[in-house]
Amino acid sequence: MPMIGVQGIRGGVGTTSLAAGLGWALSKLGDRVMMVDACRDNQLCLHFNQKLYEQQGSMFAYLKQKAWYETAFHFSECLDFLPYGNTAANSNVVQNYVPFFFCKKNFEPLLRVYDWVIFDLPSLSVNDDWMLFDELDLRMLVSVADANCHIRLSSLASSANTRYVLNQFDATDLIQQNLSLLWRHQYADKLLPFLLHRDAAMGEALLMKQPAGFWKPDSLIAEELNTWANWCVLHLKEAVNA
Ligand SMILES: Nc1ncnc2c1ncn2[C@@H]1O[C@H](COP(=O)(O)OP(=O)(O)O)[C@@H](O)[C@H]1O
Ligand SMILES: [Mg+2]
Repeated sequence: MPMIGVQGIRGGVGTTSLAAGLGWALSKLGDRVMMVDACRDNQLCLHFNQKLYEQQGSMFAYLKQKAWYETAFHFSECLDFLPYGNTAANSNVVQNYVPFFFCKKNFEPLLRVYDWVIFDLPSLSVNDDWMLFDELDLRMLVSVADANCHIRLSSLASSANTRYVLNQFDATDLIQQNLSLLWRHQYADKLLPFLLHRDAAMGEALLMKQPAGFWKPDSLIAEELNTWANWCVLHLKEAVNA
């Protein structure tokens, strides 16, 4: 069963919203999904009707040497999530523990229960050397089509388990049109064959503390997240189980 990660090439590109939306879309296909927040800002839980200052979470429990896997919440029939927890009071020690905690070995037992384990990863600009990044079946690196992401993408070292995702696309913006065409050519083997458009439903969904497809199943972004989920099933589930 696949263990995948969604990671922003920098902060604010929509990583957490996409991770939540993808997890929801996979769960709607009938697959059992565990979402894991690996980001210190602990925001994934906000997409699943939780409080921002919820202290409970995997990293918080791990620091306290408690059973971190018992800190998961149930969102729907097929979707559970593990918040990071509020570690603000321990911020000086967290950095030393994180690379040891977020590794495949720790999370592998979840694959006996879930069809997918999906990590909301901290952006590349925050930390770029966790072992987990290379251990995942797939790491989906999120960018928006702007000059800053273009620079960051051009200076990335190639990594076998990484594919690129274009989010918040606005077809009326000439820069975005041009960059997306350039990327399609330049990263033909890396860029996913579809993109995700800027859609107000995504922002509304966060205000409603729901994944986009739960809030507005008929929206463009929900349809695109469904496409992404189907792509994952086609390209990952079969390959990993083979
Ligand atoms: N496709 C999209 N269309 C419109 N707004 C989006 C889209 N993706 C993300 N957003 C908005 O961008 C903001 C940042 O999203 P977030 O998921 O928190 O980013 P990150 O995790 O990369 O920091 C949020 O307000 C979110 O609603
Ligand atoms: Mg985030």
